[in-house]
Amino acid sequence: MSRIDFKQVHKRYAPGLPTTIKNANLVIADGEFCVFVGPSGCGKSTLLRMVAGLEDITEGDLLIGGERVNDLPPAQRGVAMVFQSYALYPHMTVAENMAFGLRVKGVAKPEIERKVKEAANILQLAPLLDRQPKALSGGQRQRVAIGRAIVTEPKVFLFDEPLSNLDAALRVQTRLEIAKLHHDIGSASMIYVTHDQVEAMTLADKIVLLHAGKLVEERGSIAQVGSPMTLYHRPASLFVAEFIGSPKMNVLPATMVSAEAAQCLIDVSGVRVQVAVDARHIAAGAKLSLGFRPEHVGLDASAAGAGLPVLVRHVERLGDVSLLYVDYGKAYAHVLTVRVEGSVRPAVGTQLELKLRPENLHLFDEAGLACTRTVELPE
Ligand SMILES: Nc1ncnc2c1ncn2[C@@H]1O[C@H](COP(=O)(O)OP(=O)(O)OP(=O)(O)O)[C@@H](O)[C@H]1O
Ligand SMILES: [Mg+2]
Repeated sequence: MSRIDFKQVHKRYAPGLPTTIKNANLVIADGEFCVFVGPSGCGKSTLLRMVAGLEDITEGDLLIGGERVNDLPPAQRGVAMVFQSYALYPHMTVAENMAFGLRVKGVAKPEIERKVKEAANILQLAPLLDRQPKALSGGQRQRVAIGRAIVTEPKVFLFDEPLSNLDAALRVQTRLEIAKLHHDIGSASMIYVTHDQVEAMTLADKIVLLHAGKLVEERGSIAQVGSPMTLYHRPASLFVAEFIGSPKMNVLPATMVSAEAAQCLIDVSGVRVQVAVDARHIAAGAKLSLGFRPEHVGLDASAAGAGLPVLVRHVERLGDVSLLYVDYGKAYAHVLTVRVEGSVRPAVGTQLELKLRPENLHLFDEAGLACTRTVELPE
């Protein structure tokens, strides 16, 4: 009922302007929590507003619950949208704000009261129903805005960066409430737009990462669709690999030496490194990019695996972990990040050897497309 299909969707705001959305093909299943992420300006809000009916679709089809909705007005789509700015009516109480949409529709008063009460209970707003928005915190106001969406019992909830006006602690709390809401209202699909990696990783059943700039023209808007763990462990391209994960993945230029089915041998500034990927389609001598995450580097010089000699430039101590910024390569041209336990604190200027295990490495061809990893990885 609440499944959403994008079929070959294109969006161009005006003739002469670059294509904002290109070749968007996507299925969001019944009850799924789907998160759109990507660089600023990549078209996340545009996609969401097309589902809401606030933006025309230039080409292609959009289906909600199997029905083509391209030409259906917003009010008839069964969707409710929550924005970054809460846009509450300042002169109305919390209860009146939540009831407003239903009153306009002519819903009977007892039913309105029941729905408002139910939503208030889900969102822990019951004690605040008689207050005006000015007497609420930012987090409480955003919950009222979510409540206003819940009472309309939509098939699809659309959230456009709903937490970005909140401080760090409130973001975490409201994030948990949204996760709980999704659990409690299992039948509704949710599409959630965010810049925040942690929100994307923790809330999503499915992440949709969007390209920006010239990659849109070359490859279409959608860079990769998958579970959070798929995007983390099996990024399809260098673009995805560098976008997902914080601190971001280290990338070094490399050259192919030889490839077998289960692993290959590459040259990284004179160091031979084994990588557990299938790169048999890449010729010896071809240019590559080697990727490894800051959390997947060992410092134990006696450990197995290739070792990259580096120089410690800077250490950030965060308490539970430390981030080491180290220089590598000829003339130490590459800065790498290493995430280690908080007690590790080498002095600036120390020489270290970074140990890279074949199964922790990612390899990308010259076009930036990933080679298939050949080790078993968590889903
Ligand atoms: N009404 C409009 N007319 C012309 N261009 C527009 C319009 N709305 C958005 N755009 C352009 O379309 C592109 C996508 O915008 P959109 O707001 O969807 O991006 P976004 O991914 O939501 O970005 P952000 O993360 O900054 O919110 C941008 O280049 C933007 O300038
Ligand atoms: Mg936006």
